[in-house]
Amino acid sequence: MKSEDAAKKTFLLSLRGNKVPEAIQSICRISTFHSSLSTLPLKRSIVEIIAVKNDKDLIESVSKLADEVWREHYKNIISQGQIDYMLAKLQSVEAIEEQISSQNYEYYLIRPDGGQYAGYFAIVSKDGGLFLSKIYILKEERRKGFSRISVDFIKKRARELSLPEITLMVARNNKSSIEAYLKIGFAITGNIDADIGNGYFMNDYNMVLKI
Ligand SMILES: CC(C)(COP(=O)(O)OP(=O)(O)OC[C@H]1O[C@@H](n2cnc3c(N)ncnc32)[C@H](O)[C@@H]1OP(=O)(O)O)[C@@H](O)C(=O)NCCC(=O)NCCS
Repeated sequence: MKSEDAAKKTFLLSLRGNKVPEAIQSICRISTFHSSLSTLPLKRSIVEIIAVKNDKDLIESVSKLADEVWREHYKNIISQGQIDYMLAKLQSVEAIEEQISSQNYEYYLIRPDGGQYAGYFAIVSKDGGLFLSKIYILKEERRKGFSRISVDFIKKRARELSLPEITLMVARNNKSSIEAYLKIGFAITGNIDADIGNGYFMNDYNMVLKI
């Protein structure tokens, strides 16, 4: 068996035992059991976490997902002008390419086995922790466990990089996402108010998950 195949097999087997193994492949097949609703029986699902790297098609998929999720989710949180400004500045194909090539960002797409992309996340080493810069799941795919699975993956990545915590920033009026982060195990550690240019501001919580 080739070493990559062996590593993938280890990954699957270890997750069945609820233990994340050492090797993280550029494409990981994660087998997990998850109850999407407490009234439903446990169902088995397989999720792929796909490293985007400098693949143009994958970067375009991320940018498209960003456009869809941000316009749907942030419309009640920030102004339309601010959404347009932030998408152009942070999530255009060119902006994502630059973050990956020059700023050490790692982008990952999340895909249920055989299905369409459910969302994506981006991480970068920052201030002694692993910063979860973005995690966005399509509306119809929320509350199915994709973020919990992604955070398990990110914890593993942080351990590989010898980083003791995962940090993130979330708008203080993004209530549903704060609830999800608290359930996953993040704690609020303070406020961060930032001028992001063009007359726009972000009023965020800083949240931390110790590993
Ligand atoms: C926040 C977000 C990433 C969470 O992703 P998700 O895949 O829906 O989360 P999961 O299904 O893995 O849920 C993780 C936990 O949070 C809980 N949860 C998820 N959404 C919740 C909500 N709206 N209210 C309360 N709890 C919630 C789940 O029940 C689960 O807890 P449990 O395992 O104890 O039952 C997703 O809702 C999202 O993309 N939101 C819009 C974009 C956004 O705001 N992103 C964050 C930017 S900082």
